[in-house]
Amino acid sequence: MAEVRTAHTADLDAATLAAVRALLDEVFDDLTDQDFEHALGGVHALVWEGAELVGHASVIQRRLLNGGRALRTGYVEGVGVRAERRGRGYGSAMMDALERVVRGAYELGALGATDAGAAFYAARGWRLWQGPTSALTLAGMTRTEEDDGCIHVLPVAVPLDLTSELTCDWRDGDPW
Ligand SMILES: CC(C)(COP(=O)(O)OP(=O)(O)OC[C@H]1O[C@@H](n2cnc3c(N)ncnc32)[C@H](O)[C@@H]1OP(=O)(O)O)[C@@H](O)C(=O)NCCC(=O)NCCS
Repeated sequence: MAEVRTAHTADLDAATLAAVRALLDEVFDDLTDQDFEHALGGVHALVWEGAELVGHASVIQRRLLNGGRALRTGYVEGVGVRAERRGRGYGSAMMDALERVVRGAYELGALGATDAGAAFYAARGWRLWQGPTSALTLAGMTRTEEDDGCIHVLPVAVPLDLTSELTCDWRDGDPW
């Protein structure tokens, strides 16, 4: 019997955070410390089968610049379900919980999808960003061509031109 729980990072104890890291290391073979850090500081959706953590996703706040606006954005990170537990609705249940947060607290949702994950988000109504992407780096606005065609958004409160430029705020590690 699985249970989905949501909690802010502040309410996760060290053992739970370690279980999240272990799960994400198992799901993504190249997870860096910075990738993990990017998933912290917001609301987590955790799927438990008893004492075993089998799924994780989180949404954190970022500012995305578009059309002269700095949009308050719920940015989804660290979406993964343990391989042998996939296809049981856990991914959907986590995204249901996080999309509720996005719709209630942010002007839009956004995430950078892997090739394998893109269809999962598209089926849930996330839209592929078709315009150029960039990041507001310490050296100024920098194009992030390698992320073009990977960013998905969940429109909530503002009209968006999906073919225009979308710029993310600065952080260490992968910008998107
Ligand atoms: C993507 C992932 C989180 C989905 O988790 P899951 O628990 O298997 O998802 P669900 O069982 O809730 O599936 C929900 C629906 O999405 C579909 N689906 C699941 N994974 C999919 C994928 N990668 N591509 C397309 N559709 C997918 C399912 O067939 C199901 O469709 P249905 O509702 O018509 O039956 C999981 O496959 C995973 O951890 N993948 C590896 C990590 C990854 O790629 N994460 C995304 C990074 S951006």
